Amino acid sequence: MAYKIAVIPGDGIGPEVIVEGLKVLGAVGKKRNIQFEYEHFDWGGDRYLATGEVMPSNAVELMRQFDAIYLGAVGHPDVKAGIIEHQLLLGLRFGLDQYINLRPVKLYPNVDTPLKDKGPEDIDYIVVRENTEDMYVGTGGFTHKGEPIEVATQVAIYTRQGVERAVRYAYDLAMSRPRKTLTLVDKSNVLTYGHDLWQRVFKEVGAEYPEIKQEHAYVDACCMWMVKNPEWFDVIVTTNMFGDIITDLGAMTQGGMGIAASGNINPKGVSMFEPIHGSAPKYTGKNVINPLATINAGSMMLDFLGEKEAAQDVENAIIAALQSGKIPHLGAGAIPTDACGDLVASLV
Ligand code: IPM
Ligand code: MN
Repeated sequence: MAYKIAVIPGDGIGPEVIVEGLKVLGAVGKKRNIQFEYEHFDWGGDRYLATGEVMPSNAVELMRQFDAIYLGAVGHPDVKAGIIEHQLLLGLRFGLDQYINLRPVKLYPNVDTPLKDKGPEDIDYIVVRENTEDMYVGTGGFTHKGEPIEVATQVAIYTRQGVERAVRYAYDLAMSRPRKTLTLVDKSNVLTYGHDLWQRVFKEVGAEYPEIKQEHAYVDACCMWMVKNPEWFDVIVTTNMFGDIITDLGAMTQGGMGIAASGNINPKGVSMFEPIHGSAPKYTGKNVINPLATINAGSMMLDFLGEKEAAQDVENAIIAALQSGKIPHLGAGAIPTDACGDLVASLV
């Protein structure tokens, strides 16, 4: 099989970790006889500083010809926060209608977690974050900007269609997992319109999935359970904003940003895979950042492309690398970036 992959290395340490991700894809491609045709795109902060645009105006159209997108990291110290994130990250998520942001929270063996007395058997769940609605749509504005009577609004928008497709995806995912449990995370005790819609849709769609055990947690309590009893979770479905927040917490419980990966999924379109971490500008070019999160995102990409065995090979190689004892911790400087990529590639 041959796949066309758009590669967007991005800013800061993005290019360094992407090189290692591609190295591991190369190794597994060789083993499983999978071909990848890569096209690189220089989109991000440097391009913005040089040309005034983060990416060309037809970027979304360009991406449509690919089977998937592999993204490093975006964010540049010389560019005002929000510009690249909005144009590139949200631009592609929204433009390609990647309505699911899939974020596994899985503690691998031999990885330290700050959660006392918890191990890999306790921390293994996956967050389905709705990815196109909520406060992220950019509805709102200012009146009397800068004056004492200033008013700012930022509206959370939920559509029945948007909620339903996220919830349905989560039920389907829960069906594929042995524990068959889906937890809706919301704030329906306060957000009595938007999250009432979530509650109703969750129950309506759930009627079609009698095998799935339905659970519910308010988002604040969810943060507590994620620390206290993470073993209670199997699949979580939640809104865009809450999903953003709780998955940083989740990432810390699985060993930190060095390992956490995500997929922005359009099940019938072009999906995009990336580490959850940012571009860590201060480490740029130092060969110290751990590329495991990006390699892990590559495994998610393979899985999405239908290359289940190859995806498993990569995950197994990550686990073997962690068990080898050659990666003392997942933070910066534990092992050179390229040596880590070599190690995982050698274990595929
Ligand atoms: C993430 C990031 C983005 C988000 C930002 C950079 C726009 O925090 O992928 O979690 O909020 O979705
Ligand atoms: Mn985030």
